[in-house]
Amino acid sequence: MSLKNLFEFDILDSTQDKAFELLKNYNEVVVIAQRMLKGRGRYGNKWISDIGGLYMSIGFKDKDIEFSKRLLIISSIAVLDILKDYEIEAKVKIPNDIYYQDKKLCGILIEIKDRDVVLGIGLNINQSHFPLEIKATSMFLIKNKNFNIKEIAQKIYNKLKILINADFKFVLENYNKQIKASLVEFEYNGNLIKGEILGISENFEIVLSSGKFDMFYIREVKEIL
Ligand code: BTN
Repeated sequence: MSLKNLFEFDILDSTQDKAFELLKNYNEVVVIAQRMLKGRGRYGNKWISDIGGLYMSIGFKDKDIEFSKRLLIISSIAVLDILKDYEIEAKVKIPNDIYYQDKKLCGILIEIKDRDVVLGIGLNINQSHFPLEIKATSMFLIKNKNFNIKEIAQKIYNKLKILINADFKFVLENYNKQIKASLVEFEYNGNLIKGEILGISENFEIVLSSGKFDMFYIREVKEIL
């Protein structure tokens, strides 16, 4: 595999931590583990990281906040595009969960320390079951066959590199066309906001039927339909 500065492990606590560690010596790193002991999701959630999934963190050194905001949109599109190569039509659940019908197929986490940015992608590939309380699916469960995890990792990385250099307006338009239609609610400045999701604006606001709200002040967007 020809990923620049690729570090592969059988097992890690979290690929996110390893990427931050390696960024001390590299400008860009890709960390992949076959499984993780302390995989983490957004909002302090645990990310189940058994063998069969893709657990990849891509670290970038010395980036500004604008880069991280764009990465949030770009990473979802990179995953959606690659899923299409395998004839899987998924959707984005704002801000960056990837859903197949009503089940989660991929989770994306962006963490920032000083000016180091680490993008974590957890894609369910060959897992055949999940705990009942988790509404998740995998490429295996959708297509009834196994996939090459490294090939998918390489494709996502290549696509990400292309999209980082592409016209962001175009990427955002693409993103807005692939949002899972839903009625949502979230807390904003102490108020409970509800509305139908229309998209994300160029200023990184969530656009609802009821108004626009800066995405970085919203902790969790809950679907109510
Ligand atoms: C979420 O949906 O809450 C985000 C999940 C992100 C999981 C990925 S797997 C690779 C990277 N390493 C981690 O520990 N977490 C992210």
